[in-house]
Amino acid sequence: MIPDDADAARTAAEAFAQRFGQQPEGVWAAPGRVNVIGEHTDYNGGFVLPVALPHTTRAAVARRDDGLLVLASAQHPGDDAEVAVVDLEPGRPGGWAGYPAGVVHALAEQVPGGLTVLVDGNVPAGAGLSSSAALSCSVALAVRDLLDLDLDGDALIDVARRAENDFVGAPTGVLDQSASVLCTAGHALFLDTRDGAREQVPLDLAAAGLALLVMDTGTTHDHAEGGYRDRRRECEQAARRLGVELLREVDDVAALAPLADGTEDGEVLLRRARHVVTEDARVLEVVATLRGDADPRAIGPVLTAGHESLRDDFQISVPLIDVCVEAALAAGAHGARMVGGGFGGSVLALVEAGAADDVTAAVTERFAAEQHPAPRTFVVVPSAGARRLA
Ligand code: GLA
Repeated sequence: MIPDDADAARTAAEAFAQRFGQQPEGVWAAPGRVNVIGEHTDYNGGFVLPVALPHTTRAAVARRDDGLLVLASAQHPGDDAEVAVVDLEPGRPGGWAGYPAGVVHALAEQVPGGLTVLVDGNVPAGAGLSSSAALSCSVALAVRDLLDLDLDGDALIDVARRAENDFVGAPTGVLDQSASVLCTAGHALFLDTRDGAREQVPLDLAAAGLALLVMDTGTTHDHAEGGYRDRRRECEQAARRLGVELLREVDDVAALAPLADGTEDGEVLLRRARHVVTEDARVLEVVATLRGDADPRAIGPVLTAGHESLRDDFQISVPLIDVCVEAALAAGAHGARMVGGGFGGSVLALVEAGAADDVTAAVTERFAAEQHPAPRTFVVVPSAGARRLA
């Protein structure tokens, strides 16, 4: 059950009061995201099409005057952090506290008095659904509002991204933070990550009798971050060899031919680049379908093609994720694909609204045959971006 905004605000404020013996000055929320299509395009200057989840992280916050940053999380009881704002440095504190600390570090000059922060949330962690962006964006918005900082949405995205890249050391692109800040209810966010151009594309699949089903497979792999870094590096290498700054500048797979120089390395770079170039085209195709009067079922095969490209060209899927996609398709899903950074996490399937339970049951059965626990599933209603709750 997802609490409504009023309940979520009350619970976070109560937890703050219980922990710190005072009321917070406000409560802010930021959502996780699922990307409809456009995976591993963001750091190549390409297109993405995320929706915000109804799941959020809430930050209850109050200002201090002793220069300390005091952090507590309802999800990590006993794992509080307390550090002087002037002493913050990348990697310290680590763990969950690194995300809010990274935000405050990025704004340190504007937060001399310090802050007390309690976070509470329900974005599934380690599921490729951007729980970390929800955390950093909720705190960034809170700091902006409480201290009346002159930061627009793009500046907030930048602060949250710097927290993750520079403080936590996670080499993400800009997809997750942009989705968390910019998405609006009832829409997918069509974002051009090269110039920031954006469009809110209406996404009312329920009206067409459809649903977007998220299945968290419960797999995460240790090499996820290393694998992500490798892919980024390979994309940069491919761009260099093609003489472009970003793979986004290539809009035809035929232009990738020079990468195939007969070496194994060349073959790998060709695959990586082919994923990015075809994925950008898939985003444009899905957006064109959603903008027009075409039956949205038509995006199903495009999602599945996106999965095949991530599996075969980008090579970031894992067997259980492939099993999940195959079982969903065999049970009647119109399309299915892995989402997020790869090497585990969640699968997104486009299904008939009445078929979500059947698809979940079919995947659960296949997982049981592999001795794997049932996936956690939910239907996504495109929800609001970061906001103040109280
Ligand atoms: C992770 C990163 C994003 C993006 C996706 C893949 O979620 O944080 O920036 O690169 O992987 O699309």
